[in-house]
Amino acid sequence: MKYAILGGSFDPVHNGHLKMAAAVLSLGYDRIILVPAYQSPFKSPEQGETAELRLQMLLAAVSGDRRFTVDACEIQRGGVSYTIDTLSDIIERYQPEGKPALILGDDLASAFPKWKDAGRVAREADVIIASRRSSARTYPYPCTFLGNTVIDISSGSVRDLIRQSGGWEPLIPDGARRIINECGLYGARKRREEGGRMPESGGADFIRYVEDVTRGMMKPSRFIHSRNVALHSTDMAVRYGFDADKAYLAGLTHDICKEFGADEMREYALKDGGALSELENEKPSLLHGRAAAMLIQEKFGIEDGEIIEAVRFHTSGREGMGPLAKIVYIADKIEVARTTVDSRLRRLAFVGENGAISLDALFNTVMTATVEWLMERGLTVADETLKIYSRIHA
Ligand SMILES: [Fe+2]
Ligand SMILES: [Fe+2]
Repeated sequence: MKYAILGGSFDPVHNGHLKMAAAVLSLGYDRIILVPAYQSPFKSPEQGETAELRLQMLLAAVSGDRRFTVDACEIQRGGVSYTIDTLSDIIERYQPEGKPALILGDDLASAFPKWKDAGRVAREADVIIASRRSSARTYPYPCTFLGNTVIDISSGSVRDLIRQSGGWEPLIPDGARRIINECGLYGARKRREEGGRMPESGGADFIRYVEDVTRGMMKPSRFIHSRNVALHSTDMAVRYGFDADKAYLAGLTHDICKEFGADEMREYALKDGGALSELENEKPSLLHGRAAAMLIQEKFGIEDGEIIEAVRFHTSGREGMGPLAKIVYIADKIEVARTTVDSRLRRLAFVGENGAISLDALFNTVMTATVEWLMERGLTVADETLKIYSRIHA
C-alpha cells in the first residue's frame, strides 16, 4: 500500500482537510493516514486536553470512507508531537510501499526548515505541498506541488462561525458536526440530533450505519483497532479476490461485544444454542467472538454465513474455516495499532513475499507466530487453535 500522511490539530476537522487529502490520492496513493497531534509544537500548551475529542470527531468524520485511516500515535505518545517521530513510527508499523508522502499545507511550507529534524523528514517522506491559501510559499527541499483547488476553510474560521452560530454546518463532515452539536463544542448550542433509521442492508449507507453504531459501543482505542482490522481485511479481500464489503463489515464488528460484562457476554454467546467449554466458563472474555456473531444478526440483520463465521472464530480460528475467516483472523493479529507485532510478519501480510504469498501460507505463518507467542508466555491456547497448529506442523 502507498500511504500519504496528513497531520494536524483537526480542531475541528473540516471538509477542506478531507478534500485536500483526497486530492493526493490522484497522485497514486492508496490511503491517507490522518494523525491528530497531541500537542503541536506551535500551538498553546493546553492543546493536549482536547486530544480525545478531536480524535473522536476525526473518527466520526471518516465513517465508512476507506480512503482514510486515523492513527492515534501522537495522542498515545503524549507530550509535544514531532513529525519525525510519527514518520519513523508509521514507516515501521505500516511497512508502506516506497516512501510515504507527507502532506503539508502551503501555509506551513516556509516554516518547515525549523521543524525538528526537517532534513530527515524531507529525506524519509515525499513531501507534497497543497494549496491552502492560494499564495505560493518558499520551500527549500525537493517536493511535489499538488496544484489542488484552494478550499478556503480553516479550523479557526470554523470555530469563529460556530461562536457566532452562523453557517458552519456545511463546512464540517456529518459525523464531526453531530459531535459538535451533541457536546456543545466551541460554543455551539447543545442539541441532540435525531438518530436515523437503519438503511437497507448492503449499500454504503448501511456500512456507515454499522460503523457509527460500532464506534458508539467502544472506547476510541478499541474502535481504531476494529477499524484497522476492517481496512486490512478489505485490502486482503481485494488482493485475494473476495468480497471487500463483507470483509470490512466483519472486521468492523469482530470485537463489538468486547466491552460487555461477563453476564451480558454469556447471554449473547449462548443464543447460538451451543454449550460453554471449560475454558469459556473460566474466561468469559473468550466468548466475545461468539457473542458478536449473535449480536450482529440481531442488531444489524447481518446473516451472511461468511461474515458470521469470521466474527465468531476470529480469536481461536477453526478447522476448515473459509477464506474470509482467515482474512479477519490475520488482520486481527497484525493490524497497525497493535503493539508487539513482528514487522516481518506485517511486511508479509501487507506486501507479500516478492509480491505474492497465498492466503493459506499467510494464515499458517500468522497462526504459527500467534500460538508460539502464547506458548512462550505460558498462556493457554484454545483446543481448536491447537488442532489447526498441529495440522500445519504435522
Ligand atoms: Fe477479539
Ligand atoms: Fe480484535
